[in-house]
Amino acid sequence: MKRDKVIFFDTTLRDGEQSPGASMNLKEKLLVANQLAALGVDVIEAGFPISSPGDFEAVKIISQQVKKPSIAGLCRAAEKDIKACWEAVRYAQKPRIHIFLATSDLHIEKKLQKTRAQVLDMAIKAVRYGKSLCKDIEFSAEDAGRSDIDFLCKVVEGVIDAGANSVNIPDTVGYMTPIEFGERIAEIKKRTPNINKATISVHCHNDLGLAVANSLSAIENGARQIECTINGIGERAGNASLEEVAMVLKVRDNYYNVQHSIKTKELYNTSKLVSRLTGISVQINKAIVGANAFAHESGIHQDGVLKARETYEIISPTDVGIPENLLVLGKHSGRHAFFKRVKDLGYKLNAKESEFLFEKFKVLADKKKSIFDEDIIALIDEDRNSDKETFVLNYLSATSGMGTIPTATVKILKNESDKTTNSLIFQEAACGSGPVDAVYKAIDRIIDMNIKLAEFSLKAISSGEDAMGEVFLKIKYKGMIYSGKGASTDIVEASAKAYMQAINKAKSFTKLNN
Ligand code: KIV
Ligand code: ZN
Repeated sequence: MKRDKVIFFDTTLRDGEQSPGASMNLKEKLLVANQLAALGVDVIEAGFPISSPGDFEAVKIISQQVKKPSIAGLCRAAEKDIKACWEAVRYAQKPRIHIFLATSDLHIEKKLQKTRAQVLDMAIKAVRYGKSLCKDIEFSAEDAGRSDIDFLCKVVEGVIDAGANSVNIPDTVGYMTPIEFGERIAEIKKRTPNINKATISVHCHNDLGLAVANSLSAIENGARQIECTINGIGERAGNASLEEVAMVLKVRDNYYNVQHSIKTKELYNTSKLVSRLTGISVQINKAIVGANAFAHESGIHQDGVLKARETYEIISPTDVGIPENLLVLGKHSGRHAFFKRVKDLGYKLNAKESEFLFEKFKVLADKKKSIFDEDIIALIDEDRNSDKETFVLNYLSATSGMGTIPTATVKILKNESDKTTNSLIFQEAACGSGPVDAVYKAIDRIIDMNIKLAEFSLKAISSGEDAMGEVFLKIKYKGMIYSGKGASTDIVEASAKAYMQAINKAKSFTKLNN
């Protein structure tokens, strides 16, 4: 018998991007969208077009460039919003307009200051208008988890009659429990006469840590679209985590008996990419993609796994794309071993990039005994786009200590045109509250761009006392946020590199948009 398909609707670029501090620039969003396509998601919610010009542009570019999945944009139940959404998604091979409107009495009375009748009318009109523009319409009954079930069924019936192809039942505030939420889905299925004309979708938030459990309970009760995000990022405590839902459906295939198109071997890469670009680290013991998800510490467990893996492991790390061979490289590793590792990590480099990277690897291996995957990824990340930089850090010296005023001197190479032949070197020194602050002040004096540091974090990217420090930061420039990342065995240097990367992004974005 043919099994039902569960549609994976990924909202990393919309709800995920609403997590505090998770904003990405256009290029980063495009990278994520392409990786989501490689992962096999069916629908990418690329943004909320009317919310900002940057969101509009990102949805438009993703619609133009990312081919296989449907591309959805979010909008409120208002003509202006719906029109803007259509203008952004219309270029996609499979565009989708996603309209939302709250249906709980609390939201209707307090937030919208309307009546149920007005909300029903608005929902139907919005879907009709959306349908006049786009074949594929999704309607979300915001706060459906706390909505009166009779009214919710009425809205669902009305929007399906008006042309909605998918009806989404969000647990907007993460309030529901699995049995209760499953019953709600079953109830909607039973009571809505035209329900077979649409796909039931769910969108669960994780405020009580139940987003994945609630999504799975909804599948058991007839939902066939799951809205989720990579690493579970999203508003507040986040959304249902895509990798967890996908792996439950895979590992417990005979229990759920549904099919889906997620290529689970792409999960690890996707998780890494999203965490790297948003700066939101994955909790160490997170299911599926956490650093400890496959680590066995106790002797009894290790002994069991060595005798028969299945004793304590229900998922093979290779099923989620964790490289089997966690070979550690070092200063005696040759080109062959190094480039094999680079290839296994999924990078394709040209000859020039390979040569440059190998030189950087050798320099790092002189400073650091063991080179881990994270170190290699950091080297590659840092190298990419460096030839397009307007400002290149050329020299850095910083001093600090007890009873010393932290002081820094920097030299920056400024490419006046985009040709490296026409570059100038500038030099500045500054004092600060610490060595990093002093470096940033010296850099600010040279670049003269009125930049505000919005976020700064530092962590070790691999293990060992000689681990490289990785700095992730965000800067604000002309109302926009730009992120930067830098890695080095010297944390002041890592901080400077991250700052320079963010500045170069800001510079190239403003150049492109002026
Ligand atoms: O949580 C929510 O209700 C949403 C809707 C806009 C789908 O994000
Ligand atoms: Zn949400």
